[in-house]
Amino acid sequence: MKNWFLSAMLFCLCFAGLAQAEGDAAAGQAKSAVCAACHGADGKSIQPAYPNLAGQHASYIAKQLTDYRDGNRVNALMSGQAANLSDQDILDLSAYFSEMQKIPGVATEENLALGENIFRGGVTAAGIASCAACHGPAGAGNPAAVWPVLAGQNAQYTADQLRYFRAGERNNDPNAMMRNVAKRLTDAEIEAVSNYIAGLYSQVSD
Ligand code: HEC
Ligand code: HEC
Repeated sequence: MKNWFLSAMLFCLCFAGLAQAEGDAAAGQAKSAVCAACHGADGKSIQPAYPNLAGQHASYIAKQLTDYRDGNRVNALMSGQAANLSDQDILDLSAYFSEMQKIPGVATEENLALGENIFRGGVTAAGIASCAACHGPAGAGNPAAVWPVLAGQNAQYTADQLRYFRAGERNNDPNAMMRNVAKRLTDAEIEAVSNYIAGLYSQVSD
């Protein structure tokens, strides 16, 4: 009898914990006015150096906001924005932006073929894994693994992040997964794969 009661209690506690870990998109919207100044009211950023957030996986957005808040990812414009967010604020904002309609990006013809080769096949001679191996053939990422959507992202933002990973300035990637990829990419390869990614659009739900 006592054991049964204990199990029931534990079940309820776990359930409450799970329920709390859910983000509320409506609450996120109410907290997002300040974010819209840079990331846009529709999740499309106001300039190409800033990331679009619309349709990004909630799990990935939440990880990044937590990393900025806790100092594991540092940026002059973003770190202060995350400094005072509670765990619940982070879940709510992540739910809100992840549910937005993804926005298609545009690639230019120049270096598109090179970019596609790298995305789909990596650079064998340099031992660089294909981006599709983790980010998926459509650039849709994987919400459970916390691998981000890349498709449609601004080429300038993507190229900046690849350079930050290459230099080790961004080092919040688990097991150095991205630093190991980026450290062998040349500038021309970074420009080409970022251009290809901008034109990769997919409808992603999570
Ligand atoms: C002053 C402009 C500005 C404001 C305001 C701002 N951001 Fe950002 N945000 C940026 C920039 C610039 C980056 C890229 C920084 C970097 O390179 O790490 C970024 C990055 C991010 C990322 C990482 C995206 C990715 O793909 O890795 C998330 C998530 C994010 N912002 C969410 C928010 C939220 C939520 C708010 C509101 C609480 C907010 N931002 C407010 C400029 C801003
Ligand atoms: C072994 C798996 C793996 C491979 C291969 C890989 N990535 Fe990643 N990538 C990740 C993970 C994990 C993250 C998220 C890191 C974090 O948590 O901040 C990421 C993040 C990124 C980001 C940052 C996205 C953002 O919104 O800030 C870019 C850009 C990126 N990857 C591009 C690439 C490109 C281009 C390639 C191929 C040349 C590639 N990745 C190959 C796992 C991988």
